[in-house]
Amino acid sequence: MRIILLGSPGAGKGTQCKNIVAEYGLLHLSSGDILRQQRAAGTELGRKAQSYMDSGGLVPDEIVIEMMIEAMSKAPEAGFMLDGFPRTVNQAVELDKALAPSGQKIDVILNLSIDDSVVAKRMTGRRSCPKCGAVYHIENLKPRVEGVCDHDGVALVRRPDDEPEVVANRLETYHEQTEPLVDYYKSNSNVVDIDAEKDADAVKAVIFEQLEAFAEP
Ligand code: AP5
Repeated sequence: MRIILLGSPGAGKGTQCKNIVAEYGLLHLSSGDILRQQRAAGTELGRKAQSYMDSGGLVPDEIVIEMMIEAMSKAPEAGFMLDGFPRTVNQAVELDKALAPSGQKIDVILNLSIDDSVVAKRMTGRRSCPKCGAVYHIENLKPRVEGVCDHDGVALVRRPDDEPEVVANRLETYHEQTEPLVDYYKSNSNVVDIDAEKDADAVKAVIFEQLEAFAEP
């Protein structure tokens, strides 16, 4: 299966992707995670992306498209799950062009919808593991030991772009540049709208119910 997960910052894309890729054996390709890894490694790509990410804007299309198409080429036969990419109509067009020669197509687009006011609360409480990328929340999804990752015992951190003023910019960027993708995909693909304001387990249950319809027997 090839799946795209759309949704605003903090809609729960990363949280839900973990469940889906584990169930279907897919490669999880998060453009945000890959960019953060590049920054941590001090690569030229990471340095180029830094100022855009810190201000809540989008990294230029030419950088992200090449990076993600390269990452997709390593996907197993089972497929992949795109999280945070595409994020502009131009990125979606280039994705389609990259898949076309091998006859691949996106099977389903899951669109997580959530109000901006809920996003703000989620971002304030988000904590992430800098080593494995696991995501927690200080109230909604607590680690077993406060401030420590369940998987590797590393101290959890707050993402710098979760500061309120950057979150406001990220939401504005989402509404201006990414939301139009929903209409783009609705005209020619399978788009499933998911209410992402429910608790994480309820969202997971709805997603799995929907994916069963698309999974091969
Ligand atoms: P990226 O890392 O992709 O950030 P994002 O899209 O803004 O999404 P987030 O990771 O913030 O949120 P999420 O939806 O994954 O939510 P999560 O599951 O963590 O991108 C970062 C930056 O990189 C961008 O701003 C941009 O600069 C650049 N970039 C990335 N891709 C790009 C592209 N294609 N083109 C150009 N630039 C690009 O959940 C959030 C919190 O809520 C957590 O604490 C979680 O525990 C909690 N939570 C989750 N679900 C629930 C629930 N149902 N109920 C209660 N709490 C919940």
